[in-house]
Amino acid sequence: MCGIVGIVSDGEVGEKLFKGLVNLEYRGYDSVGMCFVNGDKFLIEKDVGKLDEVNSKVDFSRLRGKTGIAHCRWSTHGGVTKENAHPHTDCKGKISIVHNGIIENYSELKEILKKSGHLFASQTDTEVIVHLIEEEMKNKEKNKYEIDAVISALKKIQGSYALGIVFAEKPDILIAARNESPLIIGVGENENFIASDVPSILGFTKKIVYLDDKEIAVIKKDGFDVFNLEGKKSEKEINIINWSREAAEKGGYRHFMLKEIYEQPAAIAETINGRLRNGDVIFEKDFGLDDDYLKKINRIVMVGCGTSWHASLVGEFMFEELAKIPTEVEYASELRYRHPLIEKDTLFIAISQSGETADTIAAMKEIKKYGVKTLAICNVVGSSITRLADGVVYTRAGPEIGVASTKAFTTQLVVLYLFTIMLAKIKKTLDESQTKAMIEGIRKIPLQLQSVLEEDEEVIRCAELYYEKPNSIYLGRGVNFPIALEGALKLKEVSYIHAEGYPAAEMKHGPIALIDKNMPVVFIAPNDSYTYKKVLGNIEEVKSRGGIILSIATEGDNEIPLKSDHTIFIPKTLYTLSSILAVVPLQLLSYHIADKLGRDIDKPRNLAKSVVVE
Ligand code: M6R
Repeated sequence: MCGIVGIVSDGEVGEKLFKGLVNLEYRGYDSVGMCFVNGDKFLIEKDVGKLDEVNSKVDFSRLRGKTGIAHCRWSTHGGVTKENAHPHTDCKGKISIVHNGIIENYSELKEILKKSGHLFASQTDTEVIVHLIEEEMKNKEKNKYEIDAVISALKKIQGSYALGIVFAEKPDILIAARNESPLIIGVGENENFIASDVPSILGFTKKIVYLDDKEIAVIKKDGFDVFNLEGKKSEKEINIINWSREAAEKGGYRHFMLKEIYEQPAAIAETINGRLRNGDVIFEKDFGLDDDYLKKINRIVMVGCGTSWHASLVGEFMFEELAKIPTEVEYASELRYRHPLIEKDTLFIAISQSGETADTIAAMKEIKKYGVKTLAICNVVGSSITRLADGVVYTRAGPEIGVASTKAFTTQLVVLYLFTIMLAKIKKTLDESQTKAMIEGIRKIPLQLQSVLEEDEEVIRCAELYYEKPNSIYLGRGVNFPIALEGALKLKEVSYIHAEGYPAAEMKHGPIALIDKNMPVVFIAPNDSYTYKKVLGNIEEVKSRGGIILSIATEGDNEIPLKSDHTIFIPKTLYTLSSILAVVPLQLLSYHIADKLGRDIDKPRNLAKSVVVE
């Protein structure tokens, strides 16, 4: 995830800026850069690689200045290149900027700015902001001070941003702005800071001011002022932080897994950001598949491993149900050794959080021999799978540090859902009102997920009651069968408890023999029109054999709570989207059970974050 640090001081800021970047390294990144204001010039160094590698090339300690900004980049727009690394500057090299977030309307703005003569040096959305500020600064009558120009520029921008901006001709100020991407001010002695999170500056100050959305701050060494987009001053509270650095990295959560579960509303908002425009789904340039090609495809083959394989199963359901495209899902490890029958109008999709899973890479290479188009759904820009594929859609979950995949999974489901809308439009399998409902449905998900997270207390109660049970069964149907598999996998991975997922109706063909008073059975049973009544029947079957029933049900459901020992509610949504809401309580359940058992949750035994060997 991108990270920002900035300092205005009465002394040299180089050492602290560097330490700030070291403190941001835990977030994961692919390139780094710094800009110092020196006299009326900038000293800028940036490159691809880890901080130590880049430092050994450029020697950041050579750079001098009392004001500076620094950045570590986790690519979203534009590849992992030196040109795309931050900071970015305007045409004259007088304004320099670091940015976290995504500018939705950057391509429109870029075209306008190019027509006015601006020259762009990168493929990033960020660079548009600095040229826009430069453009606004030309209008001295409207924008007397730097802050006025920044406000005018921000009014034209749609999307998320945390920004640090410095001006070569105003070495004593640093401007910061925030919208939907975190940014804080650190209050020091004769120096002040900005940062994208507390841990990066915790060693320098414990006094923190949290900026709110659409706030802009002008920061000097001896104070700061915060304004809204109308230029009106806001009073801000100074908070004293007493966390350790380790706790601060986890944002106050005990484990990265829990932090990442709680990050899902924001991560999903980012996945959707800028991709829904006027009733259409629009992916970025690197998607690489045009409508004419997509019109022709008559089959989809998908692969993944572990959690990504479960996402593929949800995708299969969506593509067949809504876009009416026959879809087949394979384990990547199996496909690589089969000789699959692939016809020419088949689209091949590989799903991988890391983009480095050996089995998935091998399956992709195998399929490429058939000469069909390949698409990667991936979280890591520039990873091996994305470089092999003809097209890419990034999930934009931000780096996932916990070994157990959580936000990477739900963002994969969101990408699959968006792609389904696109395919259904192209194939004309849904009418306008159905498409509209699908778009409205996904837009509500971040807020609805927030309310699912509020069910955590009930999940904790379940974990406390059942953490010593040695086995459990997860049952779901349709789009929620893969969610049952994912719930069981999560529990196995982090708690080491044996768990199995099945389609609910399959239970009577064998697993039912396992049911007794010691067997927790988790039902994923949202109230949809398809199979709800059937699942109620399965719940009865378990109840009559004495099993312990934990159900995930839709808010307002009166029947399921009567039949279950515990019910966790999710808000009403479209059937396909219930998978995204339902998996979150299952992630929480695994987490809390593992926590009760004292497991090494972020690094479970025998597991690695990316499985780069066969
Ligand atoms: O990086 P990938 O998505 O390709 O990884 C695939 C699996 O190794 C991964 O999903 C694994 O199952 C996780 N530990 C799940 O939590």
